[in-house]
Amino acid sequence: MKIGILASGGNSPAMNNCVLSLTKAAQLSKHNVVWIYNGFQGIYDGLFKKPDIRTLEYLSTCGNILIGTSRCKEFYDVAGKKKALGLLRKQKIDVLICIGGDGTYQGAWGLCKLGMKVMALPGTIDNDIASTNSTIGFYTCLNTIVEYIDAMRDSFDSHSGIGIVEVMGRRFSDLAVQAGIATNAEVIITPDNIMNSEQMINAAKETFKNGKRSCIFVVTEGIYGAKEYPPLAQIAKDIEAETGRVTRLAILGHAQRGGIPSAIDRLWAMLMGNYCIKCIDNKKFNRAIGEKHRELIDVNLGDAVALPRKKNKVELALEFERLNKI
Ligand code: F6P
Repeated sequence: MKIGILASGGNSPAMNNCVLSLTKAAQLSKHNVVWIYNGFQGIYDGLFKKPDIRTLEYLSTCGNILIGTSRCKEFYDVAGKKKALGLLRKQKIDVLICIGGDGTYQGAWGLCKLGMKVMALPGTIDNDIASTNSTIGFYTCLNTIVEYIDAMRDSFDSHSGIGIVEVMGRRFSDLAVQAGIATNAEVIITPDNIMNSEQMINAAKETFKNGKRSCIFVVTEGIYGAKEYPPLAQIAKDIEAETGRVTRLAILGHAQRGGIPSAIDRLWAMLMGNYCIKCIDNKKFNRAIGEKHRELIDVNLGDAVALPRKKNKVELALEFERLNKI
């Protein structure tokens, strides 16, 4: 079969490893593989290229994605998808493999409904795909955040100060919750347990009363500075004024999507890629590949995109906040 591989949406570490195992496994099964550069956009731009396995191997310790990725507006509506389908047919592509997050899954499913054979693999730092426990890139990102907070803690322990760290996740809070637990954060804020300024000031005061030398807030992005909550920069100023302690905000931003892929992300990327090709070999198409309880799984893509959204682990966050009051 002729197989097209693309990555779409936000990049995540170990996407290269995923493309590598997909390509090697497909070639071993005598499929004809093409890489489509820059996500769905590459279909319109005719970026269908011969795989370059040697270069990709060389980049398998890098957090970038050799074939590029994009958020493609043209692909959002049905007309755009129909056009993409025509272009894929022109290239005689039998199966399109898409690596990405929620939006990528929706896009792949839309193409599937028009008659294209597709496969979806979970590549996103957000870990927000309901059909899998782990997404490729999540753990590297988590390590990046944890390393940052650990270093921040060093500074604020030295200055008896307060750190507010905003992390990515697009309103899904696994990054905030898990990083908060791993760094003994005093407060973990998700869209389902938001604190106002006053509550944050009180939490900071309580921390120091408790004999601690610093206070760390880990906050999911997209909450403050929108609707009723003031921007975190303002809140940091308020906390500093009320507590008399140095209070600083760090918005980690896009560094979270890069960096050397962790062993576990590389492993899932390699295992999921190889497993995906096995599904194709067994004529199982339109599957979402994932991991549940450390076992590889494949589910119907239509079922995968229809699953309810993963819930923020608020109880866990609150449990560890309580624990860290000790
Ligand atoms: O989905 C990955 C992600 O990094 C989210 O965590 C974040 O909200 C978003 O992408 C940022 O997107 P952009 O790079 O387009 O600003």
